[in-house]
Amino acid sequence: MKIKILTLFPEMFKGFISESIIKRAIEKEVCEIEIIDIRKYSPEKHHHVDDTPCGGGAGMVLRCDIVDMAISDNKTDKSQVILMTPQGIPYSDKLARDLTKYDELVLVCGHYEGFDERIRSMANMEISIGDYVLTGGELPAMIVSDSVIRLLDNAIRKESSEDDSFSNGLLEYPQYTRPVSYKGMDVPEVLLSGNHKEINRFRLKESIRRTYLKRPDLLEKKELSKEEKVLLEEVIKEENV
Ligand SMILES: C[S@@+](CC[C@H](N)C(=O)[O-])C[C@H]1O[C@@H](n2cnc3c(N)ncnc32)[C@H](O)[C@@H]1O
Repeated sequence: MKIKILTLFPEMFKGFISESIIKRAIEKEVCEIEIIDIRKYSPEKHHHVDDTPCGGGAGMVLRCDIVDMAISDNKTDKSQVILMTPQGIPYSDKLARDLTKYDELVLVCGHYEGFDERIRSMANMEISIGDYVLTGGELPAMIVSDSVIRLLDNAIRKESSEDDSFSNGLLEYPQYTRPVSYKGMDVPEVLLSGNHKEINRFRLKESIRRTYLKRPDLLEKKELSKEEKVLLEEVIKEENV
């Protein structure tokens, strides 16, 4: 997959692409990330890319002609052009999985007051990473890129993302590592038993328990298997004594 990120602040991505899993994914050619400075499309002497809002008001608005040039120069027939905006579709695990199907993503980061309204017609999709407002689209673009890249083949071990929260409609079960005993807190015995059937049952039940306790809305949306229904009943009894 190729991800192109259009931004006014290319330097912000230096750490993102040069560390950990994203760095390795680039090295293994799982993905390619290109950071493009929108300012290079500005015809202005001082590379200005924004102007005051028509009708007055605070802040500066990104110019549609400049962003249009930047998008047109970077999209291909295969690209999905996505605006980062708090007014977009709420981002989710499902959307991240949907985005893995594209060969190319062009992520457009706004800044200041945001985009001239006409820029919306140049994109295939708008994504919001949550109901709050950030100073720019750079962190949202990193969040979308990171969450998509880790789902691509060979980015991480497949089993790691298969058990992650949301992937099967539940929160992930609790994880432990050594030391086995720490300040009176012990690793559950079953995890040390070597009995994989029991370990899997424990993990599924605890996954259901924490979803029931922390995110009951997820359980309402999930179609439970026979085993999951039995475990949920057990959890409900245990949690409501
Ligand atoms: C200060 S915000 C502009 C907000 C805009 N005036 C509004 O109220 O919708 C500047 C830029 O940050 C990015 N941004 C801020 N919050 C975001 C969010 N929750 N999700 C995605 N992008 C966001 C967008 O690219 C936006 O154009």
